[in-house]
Amino acid sequence: MHESEERRDRPGGESTYILGLSAFYHDSAACLLRDGEIVAAAQEERFTRKKHDHRFPQNAVRYCLSEAGIAAERLNHVVFYDKPWLKFERLLETYLTYAPAGFRSFSMAMPLWLKEKLFMGDVIKREVGWEGDLLFPEHHQSHAASAYYASPFDRAAVLTMDGVGEWATTAWGTGVGNQLNLNAEMRFPHSLGLLYTAFTYYTGFKVNSGEYKVMGLAPYGEPRYVDLILDELMDLKDDGSFRLNMKYFNYCQGLTMTSEAFHTLFGGSPRTPESELTQREMDLARSVQDVTEEVMVRMARHVRRETGERNLCLAGGVALNCVGNGRILRERIFDHVWIQPAAGDAGGALGAALFVWHQVLGNPLKPVKGRDRQRGSYLGPAFDVEDIVRWAEEKEYSFDRLDGRAPERAAQLIADGNVVGWFDGRMEFGPRALGARSIIGDARSSTMQSVMNLKIKYRESFRPFAPSCLVEDVSEYFDLNEPSPYMLLVAPVKEDRRRTVDEEEQGLFGIAKLNLARSDIPAITHVDYSARVQTVDPETHPNYYALINAFKQLTGYGIIINTSFNVRGEPIVCTPEEAYLCFMRTEMDALMMEGILFLKSAQRPLEEDVDWQEIYGLD
Ligand SMILES: [Fe+2]
Repeated sequence: MHESEERRDRPGGESTYILGLSAFYHDSAACLLRDGEIVAAAQEERFTRKKHDHRFPQNAVRYCLSEAGIAAERLNHVVFYDKPWLKFERLLETYLTYAPAGFRSFSMAMPLWLKEKLFMGDVIKREVGWEGDLLFPEHHQSHAASAYYASPFDRAAVLTMDGVGEWATTAWGTGVGNQLNLNAEMRFPHSLGLLYTAFTYYTGFKVNSGEYKVMGLAPYGEPRYVDLILDELMDLKDDGSFRLNMKYFNYCQGLTMTSEAFHTLFGGSPRTPESELTQREMDLARSVQDVTEEVMVRMARHVRRETGERNLCLAGGVALNCVGNGRILRERIFDHVWIQPAAGDAGGALGAALFVWHQVLGNPLKPVKGRDRQRGSYLGPAFDVEDIVRWAEEKEYSFDRLDGRAPERAAQLIADGNVVGWFDGRMEFGPRALGARSIIGDARSSTMQSVMNLKIKYRESFRPFAPSCLVEDVSEYFDLNEPSPYMLLVAPVKEDRRRTVDEEEQGLFGIAKLNLARSDIPAITHVDYSARVQTVDPETHPNYYALINAFKQLTGYGIIINTSFNVRGEPIVCTPEEAYLCFMRTEMDALMMEGILFLKSAQRPLEEDVDWQEIYGLD
């Protein structure tokens, strides 16, 4: 440790503040620790309203500091989630390996590197308003730290799977007490994340954000291309490591993910974005999903064998593949699996800060009894109820203050077939809405799936909705016997709840299959009878639990639909104002915000000369 760093650890009982940052690549975020406890964490996109905003997270930093009630000068350490110089080295070496082929992409990347990224230290200090020695752990150390130190375990194996950081694309190791050591890694350009992204690109979805759609599409397809992928694209070993045949990829030297050889191999050009989806894309999605699961399972087995640990922690972008996570869990490779909810680069801010607190400063892990250290991931801004009332009065919006009666009323509304915006407490950190900024509905309804997709979310209708269910009831609905608080595990709907689909119906093609009721909770049952499950416990989110519990009293079902509070292409709402506008611009029936009810039928239409349905691209 540097001398100046030691000086910053103030003795005499004063708190130590650590600010973690991720930025300049994908999904910027900031996180603040006070004596190792997470005070606040948030993604910059929620403030700027620019999805996956990668700019310096100045708004998120400002929010974190205000949550702690401190000025930037009070920070003891500021830590960035990766090593820019190493990343630059990778860029340079890759260019030289492929030169002159990659000149165009190299010359496009250079101005930003020379202007901003190579002088990142100065940029960060200026933006934060802080003088001191910045710390830069490696990208995979940050991911691994976010997975292990925030988990419920005091020892565990750790596996990170990602696109790429500096050089590493996958790493594994062991956490024991406050020490986390990574033992092995796989290196660029051989990457599970980039393989998946290549297929995301090829099937016409947005790179770095459309991966979710590929996973959602996979159950409609057949694994027709699995052998081709395994024979031609990659050389997969028993331990899950592999090498990609780079003649099929273009991301080292070009501006696209896949090469002409890839297009010839799979029989055509990439799908034009937004054009019609065909069985071919569904088969491609299914095939890359199957291969990804196979790699994930082999890696997990290898890590289990090598470490001998019984618990596994996962992070890195690939750990958002909740179907793959569910496979790892069901194969019983480890006794327990914990997945960092902000598994992508936003979570690097949290991991980097935890890395400094435990690994650099040597502070012990605090004991937790059966809980994790992520606090439900409710780590973002909350809004005071009195302020909301004042704001609604000022705007002359019609509302009804329910306070403690809100969960029962919201339960009644969804039981009556309404779609309700649910805004409660601190905003979630990570890509999923977990009952703080959610849109909720009745999972028993056979029409709710298409109503919510087309009238509320304005998005492709092939994607299934996810359920939130009472933690104690999870095994009544799913083949799952443990909590899944962060919606990062996919599990099968229980056999006895499934509805057999008759032969004529089975002849339906592609997306039309989604309209069949496949269980008594059809709105959350995907075509392969799976669901992406969130379990809710009363301590972590009492109001959300009370709502689902009230729904159970009314209907006998302790389970509801939970989808994120946003429309297609926009970040999840953060403030009451954003929630109200989203509620008014869609066909949502009601908004329940901190115990205050807004009914659509009682509101004056917004004075906007805008056709939102046209803007969101669907009619
Ligand atoms: Fe990453």
